[in-house]
Amino acid sequence: MTAGEPELLGHWEGEPVRVWEEVWAVPGLEVWSTIGSTNDRARELASEGAPAHITVVAEEQTTGRGRKGRLWSSPPGLGLWMSTVLRPPAPEGRSLVPILVGLAVCRAAESVAGVECALKWPNDVLVGERKVAGVLCEATGGAVVAGIGVNVAQRTEDFPPELRDGAVSLETVREGVVSRAGLAGALTGELRALFDRPTLRLEGRVADEVGRRDALRDREVVVDGELVGRARGIDPGGRLVVQAAEGIRHVVAGSVRVRTGGRGSLVGEG
Ligand code: BTN
Repeated sequence: MTAGEPELLGHWEGEPVRVWEEVWAVPGLEVWSTIGSTNDRARELASEGAPAHITVVAEEQTTGRGRKGRLWSSPPGLGLWMSTVLRPPAPEGRSLVPILVGLAVCRAAESVAGVECALKWPNDVLVGERKVAGVLCEATGGAVVAGIGVNVAQRTEDFPPELRDGAVSLETVREGVVSRAGLAGALTGELRALFDRPTLRLEGRVADEVGRRDALRDREVVVDGELVGRARGIDPGGRLVVQAAEGIRHVVAGSVRVRTGGRGSLVGEG
């Protein structure tokens, strides 16, 4: 299928976009038919001074970005491709953004689709051992753009062949239809709940929830192909704690693979 010209939609999922904007209580909402990347558009808006929680959604992305410059498959109508401008109160809070956005995705998927999700540090959302959503956070000026890709309606054959073993959609798990608008609304609500109070450290109930959802906990991991050890949770600064032969390490950023009996991996490196 060839992507059409980018067009701002007036209606989406059966309602005027302005209705979604109001129902979700966001200060602005753009829904595009086709766009290169919703993150690029949200970055533009952020650099023009857009307030926190302004949101960009697209039916389809032609150059959707994943982490590490990978392409993010974003076919029309099958997923929620969305970016939101966040304005964390202080630079110290920025390292927590990916994990908190992942937490918001877990909560929204559970409330709307009834699908239990886990977090794979730093930015993946899993159902069982398979990836159902990814988060790409990009800092720009004083803002952070949180790009969220949720696989909603893909069947296995809709994923690129190399992703079929490791990816899954909400509708496959739920065995029923999942509303993308419902999901986006729940997600914007969870983002507000998590970001409207200044969060500089993971603590209290949020830290407990992150711990409960931590898919890596106590598993043997390899970080960036070189640091091998046992994952021991996520520290208050949002760093992955790895118990390695050399001692305890607090990893700020990296790609993690799970070692399962010396074979295979948990959805590859994310
Ligand atoms: C990853 O797991 O590698 C992160 C994937 C993030 C994909 C989303 S889809 C909406 C937003 N726009 C992009 O170009 N990327 C993010």
